[in-house]
Amino acid sequence: MGKIHSLISILFYVLTASALALTKRAPTPGQLSQVTDFGSNPTNVGFYIYVPNNLSANPAIIVAIHYCTGTAQAYYSGSPYATYAETHNIIVIYPESPYDGKCWDVSSESSLTHNGGGNSNSIANMVEWTLAEYGADSTRVFVTGTSSGAMMTNVMAATYPSLFAAGIAYAGVPAGCFYSDSNQQNGWNSTCSQGQSISTPEHWADIARAMNPGYEGSRPKMQIYHGSEDATLFPQNYYETTKQWAGVFGYEYENPESVENDTPVANWDRTTWGDNLQGILANGVGHNVQLQGEEDLKWFGFTS
Ligand SMILES: *[C@@H]1O[C@H](CO)[C@@H](O)[C@H](O)[C@H]1NC(C)=O
Ligand SMILES: *[C@@H]1O[C@H](CO)[C@@H](O)[C@H](O)[C@H]1NC(C)=O
Repeated sequence: MGKIHSLISILFYVLTASALALTKRAPTPGQLSQVTDFGSNPTNVGFYIYVPNNLSANPAIIVAIHYCTGTAQAYYSGSPYATYAETHNIIVIYPESPYDGKCWDVSSESSLTHNGGGNSNSIANMVEWTLAEYGADSTRVFVTGTSSGAMMTNVMAATYPSLFAAGIAYAGVPAGCFYSDSNQQNGWNSTCSQGQSISTPEHWADIARAMNPGYEGSRPKMQIYHGSEDATLFPQNYYETTKQWAGVFGYEYENPESVENDTPVANWDRTTWGDNLQGILANGVGHNVQLQGEEDLKWFGFTS
C-alpha cells in the first residue's frame, strides 16, 4: 500500500508541476511556445510565438497565418519564417484558428471590423502584446499567410492598416469576399471561392476601407501570389485581390508600372503597380503556391 501511496503522490506532484508550468511558462526562446494571457480574446484564437535565442533590441514581427486544417505548429514547421528569426532578429507570431476545420473567420461582421471582437481583433491583440513585451519595432510588423491565412492577411491589412508595414498573401481572396450575408462566423462563401465575386477596384477598395471607417493613415504594402490553376480559390481571386489593393492605393489597375515574366520563378509573372502593390501569378500552379521565403524577406525590407 505504501508503494501505491508514494506512486500516487509522485503522480500528483508531476501533474501539479506540469499544470503550473503550462500556466506560468513565459515563451521559451528558440522554440514554438504558447502564450495564454495576452489581452482580450473573445473568439479564443490560439497564440503561439517564436522568440529567437539571438534576440537583440527592436526586433521585427512577422505574423504567419496557417491554412484550413493547419495549426500553428504545422505552419511553424512548414514555413521558413522561424529559420529567419535568428539571423534577422524577428519574432514570429503563429495564431491558431479556434474552429474545428481550422479555417479563419473572414466572413462575420465582427472579424471584418476594426476592434469588432472577432479573430482579426485577437490577432491584433497578439501583435500589441508582443510590441509591449519585447519592445519590438512598431514600424516593422508584417503579416503573411496561406489560403485561409491569406484571406486573413488581407483582412488584417484592411481592419488594422496602422499595425502593419507590409503583407504577403499566398492564394487568398480579397478582404470581404468571403462575407456571409447571414453573419456566419468562419463561413465558406462559394460565390467568392469559385471566382464569381467580380467587381471594380473602386468597389473592392470601398469594402476594404469600410473595415476601419475614417482611417486615413498609412497602409501596408501588399504582395499577392496566386496559382493560375487554383481549383479551390479560383484564379479570378488573384485579379480581384490585386484590384482591391490597386483601388486602395489609387493605382490605375489597367495600367501597371511593369510586368516581368519568369519572376521570381520560371513561368511566374510579376506585375508591379507601384511601390505598394505587386501581384505574382504562378502559371501552371494549383492552390499550393510554394512560399518564396527569400522574396518575402525582400518585400518586408530585411534584404534587398
Ligand atoms: C544574431 O542576430 C544578428 C542580427 O540581429 C545577426 O547578424 C547574426 O547573424 C545572428 N547570429 C546568429 C548565430 O544567428
Ligand atoms: C458571398 O460573398 C459575396 C461578396 O463576395 C456576397 O455578396 C454574398 O452575399 C456572399 N454569399 C453568402 C451566401 O453569404
